[in-house]
Amino acid sequence: MTDQGSTPSADSENLGVESLQAAETGFEPAARAIDLYKQYGEGETVVIALDHINVSFAKNKFTAIMGPSGSGKSTLMHCMAGLDSATSGSALIGDTDLSTLRDKEMTALRRDRLGFIFQSFNLVPTLTAAENITLPSDIAGSKVDQAWFDEITTRLGLSDWLTHRPAELSGGQQQRVACARALVSRPDIIFGDEPTGNLDSNSASEVLDILRTAVDKDDQTVVIVTHDARAASYADRVVFLADGQLVNELIDPSMDEILAFMAGVER
Ligand SMILES: Nc1ncnc2c1ncn2[C@@H]1O[C@H](COP(=O)(O)OP(=O)(O)O)[C@@H](O)[C@H]1O
Ligand SMILES: [Mg+2]
Repeated sequence: MTDQGSTPSADSENLGVESLQAAETGFEPAARAIDLYKQYGEGETVVIALDHINVSFAKNKFTAIMGPSGSGKSTLMHCMAGLDSATSGSALIGDTDLSTLRDKEMTALRRDRLGFIFQSFNLVPTLTAAENITLPSDIAGSKVDQAWFDEITTRLGLSDWLTHRPAELSGGQQQRVACARALVSRPDIIFGDEPTGNLDSNSASEVLDILRTAVDKDDQTVVIVTHDARAASYADRVVFLADGQLVNELIDPSMDEILAFMAGVER
């Protein structure tokens, strides 16, 4: 190898293969898992949900995580997003190792640097759409950027629905509110665990277009779990899990390529 003109940083020796690749290709990770291991239970009943995973999620990219049911997708996402803690290894947001944070710091990081979109929308039923969108900022006592709020609610087709409560909205509209809530604070990274799993295909397309636009237009970083090849085809990169391990990845794949890979895995 030729002289690269720079010395690897001191801690790069401790990072996984993915991170070393990242360092070499120059992409900056928004989040990464380093030797991430998670087990549930002990002894005979132990379940290894994450089996020493190394993966980086590049900034300003849209990544999809796929894999069979029980392969560890939700566990990986929950550990990356600080909703669950790993048994060993590290989950980092930027350069922040989540395992080093106290409860208060974790709460602040989740609020200020992460966005979440869940399958079941997770809106507060007693609040209006607008109140749901600004809830994280309101709790933090921080001011919402009104121009940005107007821009995203317009873009997401929510302008006429802001005074409605979740029960008065369709599933697709509720998930668009959840997207607006995730986008309004301009987080470092947005995680979605099957964000289109409860939606009809039109509403799913809307949500995927919103996420794609956030990456392309607003420099956002998005990571979703999905079992839908069509949803995954919106991504720049698809990583596949099986039995708690990373087994493959496809760069900028078409839906047909994803389906072909899935068929191969299942055979
Ligand atoms: N709270 C839990 N207690 C015990 N086992 C769990 C728990 N959560 C997940 N698991 C197990 O961990 C494995 C990975 O689960 P999960 O991450 O939910 O997979 P996926 O999202 O890919 O379907 C599965 O075998 C699952 O049964
Ligand atoms: Mg899951």
